[in-house]
Amino acid sequence: MPTNALDRLTIRRPDDWHVHLRDGSMLDSVVNHTARQFARAIVMPNLVPPVTTVAAAESYRGRIMAALDPTLDFTPLMTCYLTDDADPEEIERGYASGNFTACKLYPANATTNSSHGVTDIANIRTVLATMERIGMPLLVHGEVTDPEIDIFDREAVFIDRVLTGLISDFPALKVVFEHITTADAVAFVEAGGDTLAATVTPHHLDFNRNAIFVGGIRPHFYCLPVAKRETHRLALRKAATSGSPKFFLGTDSAPHPLGDKETACGCAGIFNAPYAIESYARTFEAEDALDKLEGFAAEHGPNFYGLPLNDGQITLERSPATVPETLAAGETTLVPFHAGETLAWQISETTQNA
Ligand code: DOR
Ligand code: ZN
Repeated sequence: MPTNALDRLTIRRPDDWHVHLRDGSMLDSVVNHTARQFARAIVMPNLVPPVTTVAAAESYRGRIMAALDPTLDFTPLMTCYLTDDADPEEIERGYASGNFTACKLYPANATTNSSHGVTDIANIRTVLATMERIGMPLLVHGEVTDPEIDIFDREAVFIDRVLTGLISDFPALKVVFEHITTADAVAFVEAGGDTLAATVTPHHLDFNRNAIFVGGIRPHFYCLPVAKRETHRLALRKAATSGSPKFFLGTDSAPHPLGDKETACGCAGIFNAPYAIESYARTFEAEDALDKLEGFAAEHGPNFYGLPLNDGQITLERSPATVPETLAAGETTLVPFHAGETLAWQISETTQNA
């Protein structure tokens, strides 16, 4: 149980069950923001080229560890990017050896670097059957890509067209519906069995789709799945702060250089790693649910994945911090989530896993 003196909150060290750490100089610039906050993170495989083999995941893990501040205790959990010709034997081997923790399903062309994604679930049935047999989680970007479908409906339509059938065909497969954005997804996950859970980002809890258009077009509020209307945001807040073990922390921190955001065709993604737990703490406090933050941030995720809980702790202190407008990232600049805002909570202390 967290100790919740009025202005201090000590919880088990949290994990991030969905993050984009990128590669090269961007990796160098962003990884320690995540490692300062989280003990472990599920690392997304949508690099160019995507991480589809054990060898590629091991090489990527090595680059992450090389970029890490050696004083920080952080474990990257690697994922395999599913393609139409994903190899079930390679995936089983990678899971058995601990090189892969999960597989990521991107519908082809749903988002950043997803052109190699799966064009039809029928193409990966053997992979899904293998994953179901060995207990390996499937992480789902849940949006249809049909251009006929309104962008704000793509998640809800994915539930009907893809996810419902997938789950009934593979009932024992562990599925994480990633970065959910709708009341439809909340209801679907709540109605599902123990093998279905969802991650919720700090940004989808924080703003609705109006934020993308306040007085002009606001590229730093654009991500995929795109934020939905207010009723959906309220459903997400209720689910995340409910204490249900089916909902857990996944930031979807997705840095893009400022110039790739502020342009005629800006990239999707919000860089929230630097102040992620502070952002979640604000939401949980506003919902009068700070006592539920530890479960969401540090217990429901590992319990779902079948991994041990962290034994380190973090302490959040009520102490206002103003988020910088920009952060330097090598030769480029990043705009963090909450840029220019003052957040009430700050991490004051971290104890690492024994
Ligand atoms: O906003 C997003 N950015 N959504 C995704 O699904 C991918 C991510 C990225 O990699 O930039
Ligand atoms: Zn993502």
